[in-house]
Amino acid sequence: MGSEIISKDLKYFWHPCSQMKDYEIFPPITVEKARGSYLYTTDGEKIMDAISSWWCKSLGHSHPRIKKAVKRQIDNFEHIISANTCNRTLSELSERLCNICPGLDKVFYADNGSAAVEIALKMSLQYHKNMRNQRKTKFASFKNGYHGETILALSAGDCGIYSEPFRPIMTEFAKIAGIPYVSGKGDPKWNSMPELMWKKTEKQLDKLKDKLSAIIFEPIVQGAGGMKIYSPELLKKLRKWTIENNVHLIADEIMTGFGRTGKMLACEHAGITPDLACLSKGLTAGWAPMSAVLCGTPFYNAFYGDYSEGRAFLHSSTYCGYAIGAAAALETLKIFEEEKICEQVEKRSCEIRRILENVAAETGALRNIRSLGFIAAADIVDPHTGKPFEKDKRAGFEFFRIAMKNGAFLRPLGDTVYILPPLNTPPKVLDELSNIIIKSMKSL
Ligand SMILES: Cc1ncc(COP(=O)(O)O)c(C=O)c1O
Repeated sequence: MGSEIISKDLKYFWHPCSQMKDYEIFPPITVEKARGSYLYTTDGEKIMDAISSWWCKSLGHSHPRIKKAVKRQIDNFEHIISANTCNRTLSELSERLCNICPGLDKVFYADNGSAAVEIALKMSLQYHKNMRNQRKTKFASFKNGYHGETILALSAGDCGIYSEPFRPIMTEFAKIAGIPYVSGKGDPKWNSMPELMWKKTEKQLDKLKDKLSAIIFEPIVQGAGGMKIYSPELLKKLRKWTIENNVHLIADEIMTGFGRTGKMLACEHAGITPDLACLSKGLTAGWAPMSAVLCGTPFYNAFYGDYSEGRAFLHSSTYCGYAIGAAAALETLKIFEEEKICEQVEKRSCEIRRILENVAAETGALRNIRSLGFIAAADIVDPHTGKPFEKDKRAGFEFFRIAMKNGAFLRPLGDTVYILPPLNTPPKVLDELSNIIIKSMKSL
């Protein structure tokens, strides 16, 4: 049964973020259903989704309450144009979203993370135009950042493998280099940034300040760049500098938002409010392609006026305010509040870190363990030498294949193994994950 599906799939479907030739030695798994932490295949296998399906299934698969809410919405309507209409689901969702971060009390919707990033950057640019800050037309972002795959989002990012072929049409973002990486909250450097490092960053920024419209960044955890964690001190310093220099801070909370780091928004670790925050992935708990950009009233007011003034933000997308996504997002927010998901994640984050610590102790094949909330990552090394494997050995890919055979879907980033399970994963499922990773590392 599975092989029939696979052959049709590989004949027609060009899979994302994949070298299709790899599928000849490592075919896709044929998923029939998904429940909680697990994917169930047509061949009767049960595979743990240890990365929450590209980081979005924050409450696991097929959550019964969200399923009910989505069904309720479908009974009314599944989608309507969101210009010149409103509805109960969306207005309640908007109110709740505008309460998750004091100071951010307006929301604009789109249908994926990259679109939210582009919208936030466009908004910043237009804000300065509307305010007659004519010179503010440039952006900066962080080295090693990732913000999505459309051209502007790729330009904001700094992951060469995704962007190399597109350089000729990408736009220039200044890349902020001094990032004070740490191993997590327990790191003595968690709350500090070397003064010299900040001075260098400040010098770089000072040169650009008159032209800079916004700085975009992933707060505290850089995801696709290798699950790297940095001190909140950098964001505190940047917040101060950007206020002094009339530059926007755009927090790309697409991966980190909705409790992933133990806070609703990862910016809370630094105690800062950005000018704009991009949300997606956990927004609907992975139920629908939906994203949102939050901003505050003073920012919004720069776009407000008579039509003839030309201040309006005229960005549109067909599925803006997608009703099924909105119903899922609204129920997700209710579950987060009632079940205190963020507090639970913060309390249980040591369980996630412990998994990789156990693997490192048992196998000697991991180093540089870092973790925050329900994210933990480490780099694969040769246990005999303690050094990374040659790139062409593709240790991460080999580990991925072995772990899949052993019952977990892990998909490392290069040779960086990471776990990012649903935020409500029961402890016994985490124990099972630990055993699978140890067994797989041992046979690598
Ligand atoms: C931080 C960050 N920004 C933006 C995106 C892009 O989101 P999407 O894949 O929905 O376009 C991602 C996706 O992984 C992300 O992690």
